[in-house]
Amino acid sequence: MVVTAFARSDSTREGVVPFNAARHLRQVTELVSAIFADELDASGRSMLREMRLVGQLSPFLGGLLSVAFFDNFVAGYVWVEAGRVIGNATLQRADFTGIRWRISNVAVAPGRRGLGIAYHLMEATVREIAKRGGNWAVLQVQADNPAARHLYESLGFTDVCQDGVWKLPVLPANPPRPDPNVALRPLRASAWRDRLDLAHAACTSLAHWADAVNPADYQMSLWQYLGEMLGNLTGFYRVARWGVLGEADWLGAVETHATGIADSHTLRFAVRPEARGKLEDTLVAQGLRTLAGAPDRPVLVEHSADHAEGVAALEAAGFRPQRVLLTMRRLIVPGDAGKT
Ligand SMILES: CC(C)(COP(=O)(O)OP(=O)(O)OC[C@H]1O[C@@H](n2cnc3c(N)ncnc32)[C@H](O)[C@@H]1OP(=O)(O)O)[C@@H](O)C(=O)NCCC(=O)NCCS
Repeated sequence: MVVTAFARSDSTREGVVPFNAARHLRQVTELVSAIFADELDASGRSMLREMRLVGQLSPFLGGLLSVAFFDNFVAGYVWVEAGRVIGNATLQRADFTGIRWRISNVAVAPGRRGLGIAYHLMEATVREIAKRGGNWAVLQVQADNPAARHLYESLGFTDVCQDGVWKLPVLPANPPRPDPNVALRPLRASAWRDRLDLAHAACTSLAHWADAVNPADYQMSLWQYLGEMLGNLTGFYRVARWGVLGEADWLGAVETHATGIADSHTLRFAVRPEARGKLEDTLVAQGLRTLAGAPDRPVLVEHSADHAEGVAALEAAGFRPQRVLLTMRRLIVPGDAGKT
């Protein structure tokens, strides 16, 4: 059975209905929190807490609060049956210019799946982007969610890039050895332009389109230098950076942050395209060696899942994927605005 998309203009509308914060916020929050309970990260959970709070308050404030909070920032569509929201697709502007729009919280209640509800919601949302003059619809989906990927592909979305988080539950007693034939050198904190340049080079143009390398993540203020020095002296927070220098540029680098305070240590590494497949094992091994002796905490790595050699190096060192998010996009064409 396939449901039909229909809507009336009064408050008893059923089927695809534009999201209205005053009317739908509480039910959308309930639906999304139930379906994504296991997947939400800390920021998602805190956003949901705020949504729940506003949803609970809104009846007392005549919906004003929720309208003020959400209608300016959040649009999208819900699917309503017998007065209940059973499906949702949230739409938000993804940049100041309104060129890109982000679709999220795509969810349908378990008992009503496979009927085309998500498809209708997504169609309405794409149409909405076209009407608002947007050029791109962007979304993220867990790489291991074939149902959702199939849905988005059937609507014309294509893959942009994959980003993952890998975790090593405990520090290894005997970290792997870097390749002795690879000349590793310490990389100074002040060489942030070199690290930024390397990060740019390591990133594919599509990945850069999705999430541009941010110079602010590499620039260091005087306070940060001092903080690093103090952390390294006291041992509370140790930062280590090593790299492999080519004829003109750094070919690859690894940076670790060992903490006595936070829940996990972090490691990040980057490799220029021309050095791919040659440095990854060594950089991961060197990163783990710099963490030797640090308090026993897991190690987290955020890295491109499209960098196959990097993923292989992480997994060979015992890291396991926590989650891999695929970014997908769809070009909005003028005809999208008129589709019914
Ligand atoms: C993904 C989800 C939103 C799809 O909702 P839905 O209403 O069942 O999807 P539709 O009925 O509109 O199906 C659209 C397409 O996806 C396919 N599809 C739906 N469920 C599927 C499943 N479990 N496995 C494989 N394909 C599936 C349908 O066959 C249809 O493809 P077709 O037109 O080629 O037949 C729903 O399964 C859900 O809420 N999942 C949990 C939350 C989630 O993962 N959201 C995505 C976050 S990015």
